Amino acid sequence: MPSIYDAITADHEKHRDLLATIVNTEGGSPERREAWNAFYCDIKSHSAAEEEEFYAVLMQETWGQDTARHSVAEHHALDEIVEELNDMDMSSPGWLTRFKTLKRDYEHHMEEEENEVFTRARKVVGEEENDAYSERFQKRKEKELGLVQKKREDHLED
Ligand SMILES: [Fe+2]
Ligand SMILES: [Fe+2]
Repeated sequence: MPSIYDAITADHEKHRDLLATIVNTEGGSPERREAWNAFYCDIKSHSAAEEEEFYAVLMQETWGQDTARHSVAEHHALDEIVEELNDMDMSSPGWLTRFKTLKRDYEHHMEEEENEVFTRARKVVGEEENDAYSERFQKRKEKELGLVQKKREDHLED
């Protein structure tokens, strides 16, 4: 089983690919819509699982609190842009400009997680617990993904 660090990084790699696909596709093309839809559902469930299964543990350590709070605050800021983009017309000229802000900010966030946050977290989530954390993270993410997709379908039907 991959460690929780590998699981999070694998998601990040997928997100980086989707961000690149979105930037390299046209207006409201089916390719861009499909990539955005995948990105939207995955970033939401990924962030929720990180908060519940990863940041919650760091929060328990005094020295981990600032890091965890900083990252969770970034999740909120990123989510605002994600929702804003989701409500905007993808083929409008402003969409891509706003998307590029999201791409830059999110790439920064992922890099910070993979470097500073992981380094700190390894002090609480060591090798021997890796499997358990990884499993909880994946399970939580799957559950969240189902919720996000359902919510999205309900929203599209309205
Ligand atoms: Fe995150
Ligand atoms: Fe992440």
